[in-house]
Amino acid sequence: MGERALGERGVGERGVGERARPPDRPGTGHDRDGPPDRSHPMPRAATGTGGTGLPRADIRLEGAGLPRAGTGREGVALPYTVLSCCISLDGYIGSATGGRLLLSNAADFDRVDAVRAGCDAILVGAQTIRSDNPRLLVRDPERRAARRARGLPETPTKVTVTSGADLDPDAAFFTTGADRLVYCPSGAVPRAVARLGARATIVDAGPELYLPSVSADLARRGMHTLLVEGGGRVLTQFLVADIADELHLVVAPVFVGDGQARRFVDDGRFPWHPARRGRLAGVQQIGDVAFLTYALSDRFVGGTEHEGSAR
Ligand SMILES: NC(=O)c1ccc[n+]([C@@H]2O[C@H](COP(=O)([O-])OP(=O)(O)OC[C@H]3O[C@@H](n4cnc5c(N)ncnc54)[C@H](OP(=O)(O)O)[C@@H]3O)[C@@H](O)[C@H]2O)c1
Repeated sequence: MGERALGERGVGERGVGERARPPDRPGTGHDRDGPPDRSHPMPRAATGTGGTGLPRADIRLEGAGLPRAGTGREGVALPYTVLSCCISLDGYIGSATGGRLLLSNAADFDRVDAVRAGCDAILVGAQTIRSDNPRLLVRDPERRAARRARGLPETPTKVTVTSGADLDPDAAFFTTGADRLVYCPSGAVPRAVARLGARATIVDAGPELYLPSVSADLARRGMHTLLVEGGGRVLTQFLVADIADELHLVVAPVFVGDGQARRFVDDGRFPWHPARRGRLAGVQQIGDVAFLTYALSDRFVGGTEHEGSAR
């Protein structure tokens, strides 16, 4: 499949020139300025087929035609982006052994489910797929039905990024839900097509994968709301690039106590520091966890408080 023009297709078929909206909320009237304008070579369009012998329902390979960063100035508003993460009291999000670390509680998982239901796409890093094997679906039947009634797929498009495409096509990410996008640098495209092409759309991100460009490409596909569910490496990049609008940080009453475990974020030059403090926009107790909402951009409108259901 060839390179796509702006707004050619996307979840919900909204025009990408429209202002991105937060989940289930009206537009805010502010488009972000976008990240620093860094040149990003246009990848070539490419064609290919999956080689895994898997069902051919979704074999697609696309040159992303990823735009330069700073797309807000160039007519494509980046998706309204919510970063979501649960940390231990000592600031870790994963175990030292690499296995899944359950930090949150049932009521908070339900809150996350509601946030998912309001999004067009959910993005996780490849390492989270390998270590946690998440399905990334909207679980609640009523929320799925509400999405259908709005003309949306039951569950958001799933998105991942990888430099090596070392991912299992039988992972839950690839075997549940509907639309799946795998962004990888050009050099990994053949491997990605061979391993995953039957179960996901492979997007050539060019010589180097740059998350602001991925975000802009999602906008061009009509995705106006993006939920980023980790892990730390991906969250770090969204924060440092200043392309997120909200941070949902849940603090669980546990310690991990092992410096080998995955920290919330890596080192980096974050836009918020002692001389430029972030904005805490909400504090809520959900059972035994604290749910903190931070406003990360001037597009922030809040309104994602947990409704108190604990289905
Ligand atoms: N507590 C929570 O809320 C939560 C949520 C999610 C995950 N987690 C935990 O977080 C840990 C995983 O986090 P992590 O930071 O290690 O990994 P991650 O952010 O999930 O994924 C990192 C991987 O994504 C790919 N990637 C990221 N940026 C890229 C770029 N710019 N270009 C190309 N590829 C890129 C690479 O994949 P390749 O290696 O394939 O090249 C990289 O190794 C796990 O322990 C998981 O359990 C916790």
